[in-house]
Amino acid sequence: MPAAMVAGPAEGARPEDQRVGDPLVDTHGRVHRDLRISLTDRCSLRCTYCMPEQGNEWLAKTSILTLDEIERVARVAAADGITTFRLTGGEPLLRTDIVEIVRRLAAITGPDGRPVDIAMTTNGIRLRELLPGLVDAGLNRLNISIDTLRPDRFRDLTRRDRLDDVRDGIAAAAASTLRPLKLNAVAMRDVNDDELVDLVEFAVAHDAQMRFIEQMPLDAGHTWDRARMVTQDEILQKLAARWTLTPVPGRGGAPAARWTLDGGPHTVGVIASVTAPFCGDCDRLRLTADGQLRNCLFSTTEYDLLPALRGGDERTASQIDGMLRSCVRGKLPGHAINDPSFLQPARGMNAIGG
Ligand code: 5AD
Ligand code: SF4
Repeated sequence: MPAAMVAGPAEGARPEDQRVGDPLVDTHGRVHRDLRISLTDRCSLRCTYCMPEQGNEWLAKTSILTLDEIERVARVAAADGITTFRLTGGEPLLRTDIVEIVRRLAAITGPDGRPVDIAMTTNGIRLRELLPGLVDAGLNRLNISIDTLRPDRFRDLTRRDRLDDVRDGIAAAAASTLRPLKLNAVAMRDVNDDELVDLVEFAVAHDAQMRFIEQMPLDAGHTWDRARMVTQDEILQKLAARWTLTPVPGRGGAPAARWTLDGGPHTVGVIASVTAPFCGDCDRLRLTADGQLRNCLFSTTEYDLLPALRGGDERTASQIDGMLRSCVRGKLPGHAINDPSFLQPARGMNAIGG
């Protein structure tokens, strides 16, 4: 989009008068800076907390956004003040055009002329071969998921025998220039809750930050059970047996609360979406692989960009902008996981994007 199409911010404008170039502020005053772009709902693994073993209802191939469509949305989002694009899936490295996607997005600058920040959440498989191209294309940061270091458990949990490939990807990331490097694990009772210290040591050995995530009700099989969830308190208790944990101040809008290990420099993070929600500082929006904008992982409303993108209309940028604003305006103060009336979204995590 030519810069001339980006209007300057209109201070005090009514929501309906806002246009491309105005920040994305919701009715609770939260300014949105982070757009998570899911590139596919396919994955090389079948983590039990995310996907069913069989019978997944895949998104229709024809509805998956193309490279050009993703770029068009990203350009408007950046003009509206989005500074970080996080590429997710499913597994983003399954996109055959992944390097080109990173290259196009990394070339986008915000209204202040600064380049956007490009991050990726991946399961690490195929990362070793793809990493040089991704770094060259402008990737800035990586989060890699690893829930267990034991091959038998990995096989049970992901239903695939690929732990060596994941470790290989993490080793490649550790050897790269991308920092901070983050490793994510969903903490699960009787699955990996005896490995928390081992996982932190593994991360430290790779100059990475380990982050434990409380399991959320997002599995396609709808089998989430609060009683089985390992809470932040429990995670910290287990880690405190090995390290002195000191809280790191200045969290901002980050989902993870962090602690230094024995005074640092290494840290561990906990993403306590269920027991200590951080919705009040949320600055995130999501775009699904099939062109639906979401204002929350848990929202049950989606804002469809496909008509704007595929309508053959000259006004696409202002239509995308209008849809981003509708999505932001509809954002609730927080998720209601802890409310008895909570309804799990119809999509599984693989079709929303992590
Ligand atoms: N609860 C918490 N985290 C989840 N992830 C996937 N499903 C869930 C869930 N139900 C995590 C993955 C990965 C990131 C994309 O989201 O483990 O780290
Ligand atoms: Fe794939 Fe991530 Fe879902 Fe596991 S959690 S099946 S790695 S998308």
